Amino acid sequence: MTEQVKKTLGKTFSHKSLVLEDISFAWKKGHCVLDKCSFSVPGPGLWMLVGGNGSGKSTLFRLISGIIRPQGGHISCSLKSALVLQNPDHHLLLPSCGSDLQLSLPREMNTSERNKNITFALKQVGLTNMSDRPIHTLSGGQKQRLALAGALASQASLFLLDEPTALLDPVSQRSILEIVRQISRKSTEHPITALWITHRLEELTYCDGAAIMDKGKLGKWFSGDQIIKKLT
Ligand SMILES: Nc1ncnc2c1ncn2[C@@H]1O[C@H](COP(=O)(O)OP(=O)(O)O)[C@@H](O)[C@H]1O
Ligand SMILES: [Mg+2]
Repeated sequence: MTEQVKKTLGKTFSHKSLVLEDISFAWKKGHCVLDKCSFSVPGPGLWMLVGGNGSGKSTLFRLISGIIRPQGGHISCSLKSALVLQNPDHHLLLPSCGSDLQLSLPREMNTSERNKNITFALKQVGLTNMSDRPIHTLSGGQKQRLALAGALASQASLFLLDEPTALLDPVSQRSILEIVRQISRKSTEHPITALWITHRLEELTYCDGAAIMDKGKLGKWFSGDQIIKKLT
């Protein structure tokens, strides 16, 4: 992490909760998507990844979330992760907001804890009192906010956001950016680390640090402004 990024955040980090060491992965033999990729996430906050199409960003998220396993190297992750995809229709399953969030809650929670958590998650994403609302009546932006509420309800502390605003209009895009920035900067007992893949350079102004994915590796963390300068 650069001094600039540390300054941006105004704090120093001692604990690394996600560390990747020499990760290699090929979908097809001989075609390495990740090639001895090593990095660590400095701490809670909003961290953005940029890189060309096919540079391996989504593959990296699948590896971090454990959907696929690296063919070389080691991932150390002490955080529970939740994946949020481009298209919320790909992970919203049940007919109402509340019933969909029920699926995300940890199994062991009792009914009163469940209700409390659903109310809290909906409030955090600006969907207060929408528990009974049918999902098909939500706008694209509201659906994506519900997907974020699902990540919150799951008690995950590592949010893996794979181009979450790609299908949204500018107003909904900003609301998702604001919400994620806010929840990842809250100093609570349950701090959130958000990794966000984007190809929209203007989004980099919201992050605490950003890095470029290239040639199978993730580069160093810089401030969002520094990355914008490098890419323009
Ligand atoms: N499920 C898959 N099966 C085979 N190849 C894949 C699969 N997913 C991604 N790839 C290939 O891996 C490479 C990296 O893809 P991806 O991780 O999706 O990149 P990015 O998200 O940076 O656009 C691409 O060449 C892509 O075609
Ligand atoms: Mg992708």
